[in-house]
Amino acid sequence: MTVLSVCNHKGGTGKTTTAIHVAAALALSGRRTLVVDIDPQGFLTRTMGLEEPPPEQSVAAFFDPEADPRDIDVQETGGFDLIPSSNTLTRRMRDLNKPTDVLWVREVLQGLDLPYDLVLFDTAAALTVYSLNALVASQHVLIPVLPEYQSVVGGEQTYQTTQLVENKLNPLLESRHILFTQVDARKRMHRTYREYIREKYDSEVLENIVRTSTTLAKPQDGQSTIFDHDPNSRGAVDYANATDELMSRINDTGGGEERPPEARTPATAASENASEISELLSP
Ligand SMILES: Nc1ncnc2c1ncn2[C@@H]1O[C@H](COP(=O)(O)OP(=O)(O)O)[C@@H](O)[C@H]1O
Ligand SMILES: [Mg+2]
Repeated sequence: MTVLSVCNHKGGTGKTTTAIHVAAALALSGRRTLVVDIDPQGFLTRTMGLEEPPPEQSVAAFFDPEADPRDIDVQETGGFDLIPSSNTLTRRMRDLNKPTDVLWVREVLQGLDLPYDLVLFDTAAALTVYSLNALVASQHVLIPVLPEYQSVVGGEQTYQTTQLVENKLNPLLESRHILFTQVDARKRMHRTYREYIREKYDSEVLENIVRTSTTLAKPQDGQSTIFDHDPNSRGAVDYANATDELMSRINDTGGGEERPPEARTPATAASENASEISELLSP
């Protein structure tokens, strides 16, 4: 089972839109995807027309020693399964201040036998214990970058975070995939930033791009995606192509390998390394 996080430390770069449409594109090709909305604001959950469930039925169960994540009834929406977010994550964050609190999600995923080809985390822009948990549990990171200054800076910071997580805690996090989103070919600035990123990150940048699309920008009507209501639109075509490319990249790196059995509980994990990672969270 492959685990992928969609991450960029800047907001509005297309993370949630990308998470939804990659999962929906995979569903169309018969692959089973579980999306986990680990953004406390729960935009993905809302966009897919779902009510916030009780905390024990949400991703908050991953961080609750009293809850059993096996009891979560995953929701079906847009052709994929979803574990919704919960606004209790915001309150819970205050207690998640130990270095080993970056390991909860990995522990939970190791303990579940999930029948999915891909588990995909949609993360918040803020670098919190939740985004770090997703990265510590992932083999792949998809970094959506809008080719404008702040998003490029956020993308580069995200890249550095993933390197630190790889070096300290998660050697399986070896592949980054940068995807340009909301590209406007008429803007010279977009061209300049795309060239800069391609030059610097080379083969880590997807060939396919996602162009600006009025269909993607429109609020969705609940449980459907662009593939249901406008499958020939440019947003649908771009995400279908980008997803194909992403999956062949993941398959090329042998993305489905199992995790090694060590570090099964936060207590036994390398807490020294975890503390270096959690220092990222200090003000
Ligand atoms: N390719 C696109 N074309 C036009 N608008 C887009 C596109 N991708 C995303 N958007 C819009 O941009 C805004 C931010 O996207 P979102 O996916 O929520 O970003 P993030 O999750 O990174 O904050 C949303 O209003 C979304 O509908
Ligand atoms: Mg988002």
